[in-house]
Amino acid sequence: MLLQGQKVRLKPIETEEDQKSFLRSRNNPEAIGEFVNFEPMNWEAFQAFAKEWEKPPLDFNAFLIERNEDKKIIGWVVHYCSSIDFKGVPEIGYVINEPGERGKGYASEAAKLLVDYLFLTKMIVRIQAGTSIRNPSSMRVLEKLGFQKEGVLRKSYFLNGKYDDSVVLGLLREEWEARRK
Ligand SMILES: CC(C)(COP(=O)(O)OP(=O)(O)OC[C@H]1O[C@@H](n2cnc3c(N)ncnc32)[C@H](O)[C@@H]1OP(=O)(O)O)[C@@H](O)C(=O)NCCC(=O)NCCS
Repeated sequence: MLLQGQKVRLKPIETEEDQKSFLRSRNNPEAIGEFVNFEPMNWEAFQAFAKEWEKPPLDFNAFLIERNEDKKIIGWVVHYCSSIDFKGVPEIGYVINEPGERGKGYASEAAKLLVDYLFLTKMIVRIQAGTSIRNPSSMRVLEKLGFQKEGVLRKSYFLNGKYDDSVVLGLLREEWEARRK
């Protein structure tokens, strides 16, 4: 029940079809958009990555976002440790695959389910996320969950041949608890 929302549920990646669904999206420039700088990965490289991803230092995990009304996979959320300096601090990310499915509240609910899951199941004191300063919908998703803007990292994203500034946002456990009351 932890991963079940009103509009969507988070589906753990368990089968080969789940893995392929995640990889298809990860390799699709329209899905990941202009602010996610993933290198495309082939199936063999992906499987090698998937075998290791839950281990430190990456501590990665991914869930597919399944829409309740028709069981369609519409995107994914992930959490991972972005740097050895942030050990024990999950960073989250999310994608809604089709531009036509955006703006309907799916990412906000999926991110909320992920944040609740992380605080409820892990001994963590904060969750963070980074996004390009030019990605207002991603920032809005986080701000609606109570994340606060903590800083701007100048020229920290290399995207489409140029450096871009990114914003780091964070949510502390006590802030999350206060909002749940
Ligand atoms: C970022 C992304 C996941 C958001 O998904 P989504 O399902 O559209 O998000 P939601 O509908 O839950 O919420 C989006 C919010 O941003 C707002 N928004 C959208 N475009 C905006 C803009 N240009 N300026 C300000 N706010 C904007 C929406 O109004 C909504 O806020 P509201 O609920 O207060 O009205 C989606 O755009 C996406 O997949 N983008 C490509 C991948 C990506 O950039 N991922 C984030 C990497 S950090």
